Amino acid sequence: MQIYQPAEDSYLMSETLNKYLSKIKYKNIKILDMGSGSGIQAKTCRESGFNNILTADITAEAVKFLKFKGFNAIKSDLFSNINKKQKFNLIIFNPPYLPENKYDKEKDTTAGKKGYEIIVMSLKQAKSHLEKNGKILLLISSLSKPDIIRKQAKKFGYKIKLLNQTNLFFEKLFVYEFFL
Ligand SMILES: C[S@@+](CC[C@H](N)C(=O)[O-])C[C@H]1O[C@@H](n2cnc3c(N)ncnc32)[C@H](O)[C@@H]1O
Repeated sequence: MQIYQPAEDSYLMSETLNKYLSKIKYKNIKILDMGSGSGIQAKTCRESGFNNILTADITAEAVKFLKFKGFNAIKSDLFSNINKKQKFNLIIFNPPYLPENKYDKEKDTTAGKKGYEIIVMSLKQAKSHLEKNGKILLLISSLSKPDIIRKQAKKFGYKIKLLNQTNLFFEKLFVYEFFL
């Protein structure tokens, strides 16, 4: 499996994150970069002076690469290998968000048959890994049924704020902040 190469979604998240972090004074907050891939989001954190970062990815290649880049990295299917007691002030996730089809079932791009299963699952699991006042920055595509994701998130008790969006040729990308 290839490591996901940064694309429009990565750049939208990174730009949003950069702005978001510039408003946070305390640099030692605990950050989790879920589905870190090439580490672009973790790198944005590091370049903004934030160093208390854990990166996680389901693919061994990405984890190896992240370690090589000097990041604390763990191979984990969402939160499965993350210590139950470990909590974060900020969780970043640019997830796979496309519906699976017979040509594409790759873990870096597809999020289940409907295109949102992994995203909804991540929000469910993240609840017990958020510090008080902790926040999640999550990217969603218009192709991943954002209405269903937002509805599920509200059921889990999250409040939701739209931070950024962009129009691509065949889809829209949104970055949301989720908090309890
Ligand atoms: C769209 S890519 C984003 C990569 C990188 N964060 C970026 O912004 O470019 C999604 C990443 O999530 C990882 N991933 C997919 N399913 C996962 C899961 N269940 N648990 C953890 N990581 C997962 C993929 O391997 C991939 O690196």
